[in-house]
Amino acid sequence: MAALLFLALLSSLSFQFCSCASPWQTMTTGSHIRAEDHDRIFLLSSDTTFSCGFHQVGANAFTFSIWYTAVKTVVWTANPYSAVNGYYSPVNLYGSRISLNQDGNLVLTDTNGSTVWESKTSSGKPTTVSLLDTGNLVIKDFGNNIVWQSFHSPTDTLLPWQNLKKDTRLVSGYHHLYFDNDNVLRLLYDGPEITSIYWPSPDYNALTNGRNRYNSTRVAFLDDRGNFVSSDGFKIEASDSGPGIKRRITMDYDGNFRLYSLNASTGNWVVTGQAVIQMCYVHGLCGKNGLCDYSEGLKCRCPPEHVMVDPTDWKKGCKTTFTFGSNQPYQDFTFVKQPHADFYGFDLGSNQSISFQACWNICLNSRSCISFTYKGGDGWCYTKDLLYNGQVYPYFSGDNYMKVPNSFNSSASIPKQESLTCRPNGSDIMLGSATMYGLKKDNIKWIYFYVFTAILGSLELLVIVTGWYLFFKKNNMPKSMEDGYRMITNQFRRFSYRELREATGKFKEEIGRGGAGIVYRGVLEDKKIVAIKKLTNVHQGEEEFWAEVTLIGRVNHINLVRMRGFCSEGTHRLLVYEYVENESLDKYLFGERSAESLLSWSQRYKIALGTARGLAYLHHECLEWIVHCDVKPENILLTRDFNAKIADFGLAKLAKRDNTSFNFTHMRGTMGYMAPEWALNMPINAKVDVYSYGVVLLEIVTGTRVSSGVIFNGRQVEFPEFIQEAKQILATESITDLVDARLHGQFDPEQAIAMVTIAVSCLGDRSKRPTMDEIFKALRSYDGEEEDHPAYSY
Ligand SMILES: *[C@@H]1O[C@H](CO)[C@@H](O)[C@H](O)[C@H]1NC(C)=O
Ligand SMILES: *[C@@H]1O[C@H](CO)[C@@H](O)[C@H](O)[C@H]1NC(C)=O
Ligand SMILES: *[C@@H]1O[C@H](CO)[C@@H](O)[C@H](O)[C@H]1NC(C)=O
Ligand SMILES: *[C@@H]1O[C@H](CO)[C@@H](O)[C@H](O)[C@H]1NC(C)=O
Ligand SMILES: *[C@@H]1O[C@H](CO)[C@@H](O)[C@H](O)[C@H]1NC(C)=O
Ligand SMILES: *[C@@H]1O[C@H](CO)[C@@H](O)[C@H](O)[C@H]1NC(C)=O
Repeated sequence: MAALLFLALLSSLSFQFCSCASPWQTMTTGSHIRAEDHDRIFLLSSDTTFSCGFHQVGANAFTFSIWYTAVKTVVWTANPYSAVNGYYSPVNLYGSRISLNQDGNLVLTDTNGSTVWESKTSSGKPTTVSLLDTGNLVIKDFGNNIVWQSFHSPTDTLLPWQNLKKDTRLVSGYHHLYFDNDNVLRLLYDGPEITSIYWPSPDYNALTNGRNRYNSTRVAFLDDRGNFVSSDGFKIEASDSGPGIKRRITMDYDGNFRLYSLNASTGNWVVTGQAVIQMCYVHGLCGKNGLCDYSEGLKCRCPPEHVMVDPTDWKKGCKTTFTFGSNQPYQDFTFVKQPHADFYGFDLGSNQSISFQACWNICLNSRSCISFTYKGGDGWCYTKDLLYNGQVYPYFSGDNYMKVPNSFNSSASIPKQESLTCRPNGSDIMLGSATMYGLKKDNIKWIYFYVFTAILGSLELLVIVTGWYLFFKKNNMPKSMEDGYRMITNQFRRFSYRELREATGKFKEEIGRGGAGIVYRGVLEDKKIVAIKKLTNVHQGEEEFWAEVTLIGRVNHINLVRMRGFCSEGTHRLLVYEYVENESLDKYLFGERSAESLLSWSQRYKIALGTARGLAYLHHECLEWIVHCDVKPENILLTRDFNAKIADFGLAKLAKRDNTSFNFTHMRGTMGYMAPEWALNMPINAKVDVYSYGVVLLEIVTGTRVSSGVIFNGRQVEFPEFIQEAKQILATESITDLVDARLHGQFDPEQAIAMVTIAVSCLGDRSKRPTMDEIFKALRSYDGEEEDHPAYSY
């Protein structure tokens, strides 16, 4: 009682604006706020957007935090890992409190009086604490100078205009967002046993990832229009970009960082941008020995003979159900295959060109080897003693083998495996790995089904991995996370037909025409210029179409044309795309533009590289592993800086599915670019795109439409013959004969040889064609001189 009186006296002295039962605007020297009064006394920003005070995280556990007042979403916490007790203890009559001491230090104390956190601002001068409208908690000295601010020590969230700088990082669980020593913004998994960087892709250098290593400013921030910009060139633009929306950037517990926008009418946070598109690429997601798998939606699973360490937390991973005895004979063990799986990094060693049996024996006869990955074809053998970052990649040409006791009954647990099907007779085109989703033929709803399993899968995983965290932060986290995942499918919009008709001025300005439909230029209400494609060949049901475009809408890569939305009304089916400045590659190679602005060699190389990168992303990296099926210069659009952006990916799936009017050229692929297997009625896989890419590559080098025959050395040459010629030229290295004469010898012969060599390998027998990933890596290795001039930017 005495304490209460004392407090009442103190507050009425210090705060002329408020009574003690309402929020404060400032806190002055000598005052304090008790955890017990958390729902009555806290600091409020003058526009009331933000509040700061004690935030309840458990029955009797509190943090000192800042939150969005309306939705109680915490954006900063002084003591994220050590909550304080709420109520009196026998030891301390006053409970936990935040006090602004006489010396100017802001101190958080627990019930037993121990200091849990402090601002370390002991100037000995009078000070004030206030919460600004930006959400920044500031301590000001007598002269009104800011001596401390919460914006300088973020926890897991950045608010608009809050800088992430050289010595600050966002942390959530084991995951960190920070500027690395080479000035690149990265995501790092820093677990109990290992540390590894997973974003941007550790397989590529900074430049290839579109980052600039030479700007040492090291600053990243979110502006008030929803652009998250980093000094290394990385950028996320909110899908609802524009002023007046409350937003935040948060490092989420699942290891991804996301841009959230607040829907003011529902009070829900909506994900409007994120860093990692494919969650399996987040290191540590499934813990040690765990495998991330999209087969039935995003899931973590344990390898054979392994169980979860902690059934409530995937981040703890899996452990063996058996032990490796130190004197156990090697012969007691065998291996069980995990198709298309691999564990990233931590190789015990690697050997090339050895047989599968030899690889098996190396691992069997080594006590430290617990698993190996074998890649057929080139015979790569990777032995491993530590398994992290496991993932199943549908297009990975190798398999992983786990060491298990001999008694293991393999027939009981080898997962069934089917091959990708995408049949050329149009009855059931399944691009993206249908097997990943366990789908049956003739199931008209399959696409619909897998979108939802994917989303439910994400939710399920989240619920599992965030188990304790949600328990701990049950007041705000789960809702926004769920909404986040739901939002991934809503990142782009559904438009009404009227809206699009208005945007295009009644479909006035035609800017392109292709198999799938006519493309018009349009201007949306928010003044964004878009390309609107009116599909002519779609006879899909509403739901199927919706599900399909939603998948395509999720794909986001610098070398792919971004889909902004769609319209499906009655018989109308339209797609809305970002507008790409320049025209398609064919116009510059052989069309009207080739005369006025001939593509230089370095531009051509950049386009070849960008196209390879976009296709590699579609085939290997993106969420649904899409096969394009119609790669040709008409579908490669060019930005103002001549970066390639691939258009029309995913559309093959929307094409007409009735067998009666089967028509090669019209439906999938274009004569001249189509791999022979289309005609042979073989199942179609990603290698059809590799073939088409090979043709495009030759066209970029020669500047002629080789797909429809070439005039070569003064005579008309058919395509197969031309490839033979190209092979001979490669053998003699007189590459000049092949390169576009209009360049007058201004080209890099090494790059030209690489391009033609790759093109020829793309056009060969299907099993010998390289993957897009290999092609991209090969081309990139000849692009070394460009380090100082980033070819890519996000
Ligand atoms: C106060 O309690 C915490 C745990 O609640 C403990 O770690 C700390 O040592 C205690 N401090 C004192 C001074 O007793
Ligand atoms: C480095 O990045 C900062 C912040 O994005 C930018 O203002 C500055 O112009 C950049 N400097 C150079 C040399 O590009
Ligand atoms: C907010 O959510 C409601 C209901 O889902 C939706 O109708 C509305 O368009 C949303 N507002 C914004 C600005 O996104
Ligand atoms: C690679 O092969 C050589 C010879 O076959 C063998 O001695 C070596 O241990 C192998 N390395 C690994 C890491 O397996
Ligand atoms: C192995 O599993 C299969 C399928 O479950 C079963 O039919 C077979 O009897 C098992 N073999 C042994 C040796 O346990
Ligand atoms: C499509 O082709 C497959 C394989 O050739 C064949 O089995 C199937 O009957 C064809 N479907 C139709 C509807 O013709």
